[in-house]
Amino acid sequence: MDHFNYISGRLHAEGIAADTLAEALGTPLYVYSQRTMHDHVTRFRAAFAEIDPLLCYAVKACSNISVLRELAGAGMGMDVVSGIELERAWLAGCPMAKVVFAGVGKSDEEIRAALDGRFSPLRRHSTELQADDPAARGPVGVLNTESRSELERIAAIAADLGVRARVAIRINPDINAGAHDHTTTGRASDKFGVPAEQAADLCAEYRRHEAVEIAGFHVHLGSPIYTPAPYLQAVERLAALIDRVEEDGTRITHLDLGGGIGADYETGQTPAFTVFADAIVPALRPLVARGVHIALEPGRTIMANAGVLLVTVRHVKCQGGRRFVICDAGMNALIRPSLYGARHFVWPTRVEPGLEPHGRHFGAPPTDTEPCDVVGPVCESGDFLARGIRLPEVRRGDRLAVFTAGAYGMTMASTYNDQPLPAEVLVDGAIATVIREQQPAIDLVLPGMTTRSVPLPAGTNA
Ligand code: LLP
Repeated sequence: MDHFNYISGRLHAEGIAADTLAEALGTPLYVYSQRTMHDHVTRFRAAFAEIDPLLCYAVKACSNISVLRELAGAGMGMDVVSGIELERAWLAGCPMAKVVFAGVGKSDEEIRAALDGRFSPLRRHSTELQADDPAARGPVGVLNTESRSELERIAAIAADLGVRARVAIRINPDINAGAHDHTTTGRASDKFGVPAEQAADLCAEYRRHEAVEIAGFHVHLGSPIYTPAPYLQAVERLAALIDRVEEDGTRITHLDLGGGIGADYETGQTPAFTVFADAIVPALRPLVARGVHIALEPGRTIMANAGVLLVTVRHVKCQGGRRFVICDAGMNALIRPSLYGARHFVWPTRVEPGLEPHGRHFGAPPTDTEPCDVVGPVCESGDFLARGIRLPEVRRGDRLAVFTAGAYGMTMASTYNDQPLPAEVLVDGAIATVIREQQPAIDLVLPGMTTRSVPLPAGTNA
């Protein structure tokens, strides 16, 4: 599953004790295991090998460029949803041809930079970034579109640039994948994609368009998904749509099934990749045989179990029938418990013999301590990392590890209450590399101190 293990009562990230990292770098601290990332990529690729899909890692899950470099080095393409994510993929060395650009509300500037690197917002910063000039990087492999209106913008911008954009239409298949309401994306009532009916019309309208090639379809049902069933439903609907538009004369070469496969927040929660692949691959075989190339966009399943968040206990207090374990970070560093009611396994980084956890689940209480609420310093009652869990006795200064925090942890962290963003460290065996320093105080205070007056056209009323 991952390479975070207890050895003689001390949590280790691969070959390094978590406490050693925390002592060197302070907390809150995100710790990623390189071996775990690579294991996940290898197993994911092996499971789907028969159909040789384009694997596009969903950058939003964990977007540190050093992490992206590792994944690009392992051959992953990237799924990006903003212009800056696009730049990250490029800076990480991912070939543009392996990038798919999704997102329900892309700006004209983002579309332009996706089609032509001369419009990269980082063009003037190449020296500072020690990067090549993005001008020559070429267009993204596929630009996904989520509405008629957006497709019109893509066509206009591509025509203006004199290029032909390779586009996939995101389908809203009206499938409820059963994720949290906020992260279920394939129901008719969700903002994403267009109904199959409308997609067929768009294919017909754009069939001979000189600035747009409709290469195929995209779907992303939600996240996390714990069974292959919704994917199968989606493949069935998309295969029918492909038949229909091909009869009409649109040649489909690309089908992107998105991401969504769950992670093991609790041991055994998510079936193996092979369980998903064994169900989905046979359904895709006929399409692949017809020359449709499949893309998949895993994010969480690659990174979640490859990261832990380390926090330090500042105080413990008992009141109102609860034991509050007050830590140096909460919703500011990891918002998933507060935002989605997500359960992350939490355990001290150092425990007495016999109290090492067996897997990642809150089983029988290891001691007779009361249930704890593990909370942060933020001034909201909704600021917690875990609620009502049983922990071995912890004291001020002890450290806790919040597991399965490598996806949607750091990328959703905020500076609310002026808490600096945590540091990130990447562990490879016995080597630890700081890939992001803790945010310095100056970064938090400076923006409001540098002011300028807005130049307004003459004659504007005050
Ligand atoms: N592709 C598209 C178009 C997506 O919108 C997403 C995730 C993915 C791929 C990757 O899904 P994954 O394989 O990581 O499940 N913040 C939430 C998750 C939101 C996911 C948004 N889209 C959370 O912390 O649970």
